Amino acid sequence: MNTLYLGNNEKDIETAANIIANGGLVAMPTETVYGLSANALSGKAVEKIFLAKGRPMDNPLIVHIAEIDDIEKFNLVSEFPEKARLLAEKFWPGPLTIIMKKSDVIPVEVSAGLDTVAIRLPSHKTARELIKKSNTVLAAPSANRSGSPSPTSAQHVMNDLSDRIDAVIDGGECAVGVESTVITLAADVPRILRPGYITLEDIESVIGHTEVDNAVLMQIEKNAKVSSPGMKYKHYSPKAKVILVKGESKRFVDFVNRKYEHDKTVCAICYDNEKKYLNSKCITIGSESNYIEQAHNLFSSLRDVDTMDDVKTVYAHCPKTDGISMALYNRLIRAAAFEVIDLSFNIVGLTGPTGSGKSEVAKVFKELGFYVIDADKTARDAVKDREVLDELAKAFSNEILDENGNLLRKKLAEFAFSTQENTEKLNSITHPKIMSMIFDEAYKKSNGNKNILLDAPTLFEAGADKICTTVICVLSDSDKRKERIISRDNLSEKDADIRQSAQKDDKFFTSKSDFVIHNNSSLDDLKSQAEKIIRKVTI
Ligand code: TXA
Ligand code: MG
Repeated sequence: MNTLYLGNNEKDIETAANIIANGGLVAMPTETVYGLSANALSGKAVEKIFLAKGRPMDNPLIVHIAEIDDIEKFNLVSEFPEKARLLAEKFWPGPLTIIMKKSDVIPVEVSAGLDTVAIRLPSHKTARELIKKSNTVLAAPSANRSGSPSPTSAQHVMNDLSDRIDAVIDGGECAVGVESTVITLAADVPRILRPGYITLEDIESVIGHTEVDNAVLMQIEKNAKVSSPGMKYKHYSPKAKVILVKGESKRFVDFVNRKYEHDKTVCAICYDNEKKYLNSKCITIGSESNYIEQAHNLFSSLRDVDTMDDVKTVYAHCPKTDGISMALYNRLIRAAAFEVIDLSFNIVGLTGPTGSGKSEVAKVFKELGFYVIDADKTARDAVKDREVLDELAKAFSNEILDENGNLLRKKLAEFAFSTQENTEKLNSITHPKIMSMIFDEAYKKSNGNKNILLDAPTLFEAGADKICTTVICVLSDSDKRKERIISRDNLSEKDADIRQSAQKDDKFFTSKSDFVIHNNSSLDDLKSQAEKIIRKVTI
């Protein structure tokens, strides 16, 4: 299908309204982001939205109206609570979506089987005109491919959906830039399910106590019930890996510069004032105190990452979670698949080839007050997790489980290490779990200790160096390492050689580390090198 590119004028809006009347799809500008609209009262038309976006069918859509009276005119809800009325009068037309109990008019495709419906009255003139001219109400999710950042220009829509939809109306850039605040009034206590330009404080000033759903600022358990299905999906992601970074400006700049020193594929999403101090490429999203400007630029910044060659990791600075920042933080943690670095903590990565003396160095860190995370142990615990086990069994074979569903480690190793491709499959299943366990241990279980050592033989291979404030490697001559692993693990000389040949060379470690410890003389010498570094890196 050839997508019609329409202008923002009466004739073109009429053409668009005809497309809607014939059951078609039109991307329309709104003040928040572009929406992909269809007649909300026709299940058949709405179904096409899901197909065009590749959207999971269990994710309900917002119904857009042109006047408050449309709620009654089209009989959209079974209840219009007083607090909903108050919010509507104060914030509509505008970027607020209100969830209420639905009526029978709402097709199951719109509500995705829930007994509620989300309603919004946009302030964008074109959107309202299109709704009016269509003589109906419009279901419209953001007009992006499911999973990618929401579109804030007609060009973004074309990049994602060209030839998959009937038309797009170009109404210029969206003023707000992040999607509407979503609040449910179908529950006992009003609850924000998605933060936006209308803040918690704005809402409480009209209807009093309002909760913020747990899923807004945190990752919720995979199988937990979510109030808003959209919140469980990874979202807003460019192709590069995004990591959200909390912490004050100077620490952010120092952190990114240290990462860039070893890895030229990192870049930053930062504030205007940070740009001149950053050595890496960066995309600025506005001034540090102008949250409206930041919201306006957020999604186009995430899209811009994909236009930068050779960028593999993006550190996005977002230190606050109140006011409009709650919306920014909420979108960025999803883009980051919940990988958040808190720079008020100090995570020191320790790595090196087997037998180099890492454990001795880790002991010194522990004696000097660091909380130590043993990544090997975390990795072993990760494959005890039921969901991970099920995923592994699905990817390889049920033979990796015994009759009680427990892991048969040897069997898994046979499958997983048989080919490079299988090893990658294993990593792609286990690494996200391992990383989330490491974050959990560092920030929650370290009992307030801000100095954390992450002891990880495969720190770089697992990508865990990306979350470390400093990286240290321990090296040692290969004959010394061989002696140590023979006596430590009771190996034959041949087995020791095989194990050593699988190790990366020294240059691999030195080129990626901030500090190198050479362990070729006495234990005292090793300890004294470690102590010197620890004094430098402790906060
Ligand atoms: O600003 C916006 O809201 C934009 C523009 C186009 O209006 N629309 C938008 O729609 O962001 P969408 O589909 O991308 O996001 C709607 C969110 C999803 O997270 C969905 O799960 C949630 O609202 N939602 C919709 N109906 C719901 C309901 N009945 N109960 C709970 N959550 C609902
Ligand atoms: Mg969306």
